[in-house]
This record gives sequence, C-alpha cells and structure tokens, in this order.
Amino acid sequence: MEKKLIIAIDGPAGSGKSTTAKIIADKLKISYLDTGAMYRAVTAYFIDNDYSIDSDNIYSIMDSIIIEFYEYSVLLNSQDFTYRLRDNDVSSLVSKISSNKIVRDRMVLIQRNISENKSIVVDGRDIGTVVFPNADYKFFITAGIKERASRRYRELKLKGREVELINIEQQIKERDYLDSTRKNSPLKKADGAIVIDTTHLHLEEQVNTILKIINNN
Ligand code: CDP
Repeated sequence: MEKKLIIAIDGPAGSGKSTTAKIIADKLKISYLDTGAMYRAVTAYFIDNDYSIDSDNIYSIMDSIIIEFYEYSVLLNSQDFTYRLRDNDVSSLVSKISSNKIVRDRMVLIQRNISENKSIVVDGRDIGTVVFPNADYKFFITAGIKERASRRYRELKLKGREVELINIEQQIKERDYLDSTRKNSPLKKADGAIVIDTTHLHLEEQVNTILKIINNN
C-alpha cells in the first residue's frame, strides 16, 4: 500500500484555503476534511438547542456529538446542518464556541478518526500546529483583509445572501482577532509551514503553487 499523505492547510477567514484545499484533494484524488464546517455545525447545534458554552453540561453535550460528512453535507448527530453553516448567527458565534477546550478536544479526536488510514487534505486553524504537527506538508495561506472580505462577500452574494461588504470585513476582523489571540490552539503559522500570500494570486495560481511543491518532493 502507498504511504498515506497528510496535507495541512491553515489560515485566516477568506484566505481561499478551503477552495484551494478542495481542488488539491480532487487533483491528487485523496480525501478532504473541512474542519471549519465542524466548528460551524457545533455552533449551529448550540444555537438551535439553546445550549450555552458556559453550561455545566458542556462535557456531556460534546461527548455525545458525532459528526459525519457525506459528499456535500455535514451531519451532526444525524441531523443535516449544511444549510446553517454560513448563516450570520453562526459566523458571529463560531469563534467563541471554538475557543473552548472541551469543544476543541472533541473536534480534534473526530478529525483524527476521520483522517485515519487515508491520504487527506485537512484545512482549518490548528491543523499544522495541533491536529497533525507531523503532517507531510504544511501550508499557511493568507491574504490582505480587504481582499479576504471581498472574496467572502462575492461568495455569499452568489449564494443569494443579503450582505454588506463593510459588515463582512468587520466580522472577519473580529474572528481573526479572537482566533489568533485565544489560549487554546490559536491561529498561527505552524513550525515548518510554507506561507502563501494569495492577495494577488488567482485561484489557479494558488493551487498550482501548492501542487508544484508537493509534486517536486
Ligand atoms: O471559511 P472561513 O475561513 O470563514 O472559516 P472556517 O474555516 O469555516 O472556520 C470558522 C471558524 O471556526 C473559525 O473562525 C474558527 O473560530 C473556527 N475554527 C477553529 O477554531 N479551528 C479549526 N481547525 C477550524 C475552524
């Protein structure tokens, strides 16, 4: 059997990491795991069930959570949360929910289980630092805030959402701040990660830059 390959892609909101990660996985014919979707599904689950992150039951709530991916859907305890993931209430709360250690420990466990015995591209905030510090390849994808905000704006508009650029930019800045200053697994470049600034790169160029690095090794 061929050696299994783990490619870790981290970076801030709207840097293009998820789109890039998906294409890389497709081209290499390996699996893809969107860990942001997991944290978003947990956040929607908390909101929809009126759970508080400060609740005394947080451990048992998290311990009972099962997350499954089917093609384009994310299921949490068998309920489909796919259409909730990009809702504004979820985007506003996700960084707070994700800063909790009990939440993170459960997610990391599920992420490692999903990735077991297969080659996979995993994207998120702590993949190269915490989840897979020994990944075969680590990338840190970034871009200027204005560019990231307008990418996310275009993406949401295409989905028919009523959004304003200024609010998106503000929300991304807040998430960047919370994600990179939190105590548990903050967003930062992993040791040995290759930084790719995509501010002036087209999607195809981002993908090719990464593929070239992987194929030349
Ligand atoms: O797609 P976008 O860059 O907006 O974010 P995402 O990847 O969907 O992640 C949403 C949020 O989940 C982030 O802002 C983090 O708070 C959290 N997250 C995390 O803490 N750790 C991860 N591995 C992935 C996401």
